[in-house]
Amino acid sequence: MRNIYLIGFMGSGKSTIAKKLAKELNKTFLDLDDYITEKEQKSIPEIFSQVGESGFREIEHKALKEIASKKNLIVATGGGVPCFFNNMEIMNKNGKTVFLQLSPEELAKRLTPEKSHRPLIANLSENELVDFITKKLEERNKFYNKASIIISSESRDINYYINAISQ
Ligand code: S3P
Repeated sequence: MRNIYLIGFMGSGKSTIAKKLAKELNKTFLDLDDYITEKEQKSIPEIFSQVGESGFREIEHKALKEIASKKNLIVATGGGVPCFFNNMEIMNKNGKTVFLQLSPEELAKRLTPEKSHRPLIANLSENELVDFITKKLEERNKFYNKASIIISSESRDINYYINAISQ
C-alpha cells in the first residue's frame, strides 16, 4: 500500500487518528516529529531554539523525503509540513494525503493544555491562540486544500476515517 499522510493544523488529531488507523488496517504508524526527534537526538523545541524555524523546516523536508521512500506507513505529519518546499507534491506523488479539518475555536480548545512543547504557540494566551490559528489557517489552507481527501476530524469513530480513506 502507498503511504497515507494525515495533514492539518496542530491539535487536529493527526497522531491519535493515524495510530488508530494503523492498528485497524495493520499498517505501520509513523509520527514525523518523533522520527525527527529520534534522528536528531533533540526535541522539537530544542531544534527550533538552536537552528530556528528555517533550520527545522530543512530537517523536516529531509525527513519527509526519507520516509517517502518507504511503503505501508500511516504518517502523522507536523502541521507545517505541507506549507514548505515541495512537500505537498512529494506526499501526493507517493501516497494519499488526508486533511483533517477543525475550526480555530475547537483547535484552540484542544491545544491549550498541551501547547508547551509546540514552539510556535507556547507563549500565547487562549485568546491570542484563536487569533493566531485563524491567521495561520488563512495562509496554510491553500496548501492543506491540495490534499487528496478533506474531512472534518470531529468524529471519534475510527470507521468514519477508514471509510474516508478508502474513497
Ligand atoms: C508545527 C507543528 C508541530 C511541529 C512543530 C511545528 C507547525 O507538529 O512540527 O512544532 O508548524 O504547525 P504537530 O502538528 O504534530 O503539533
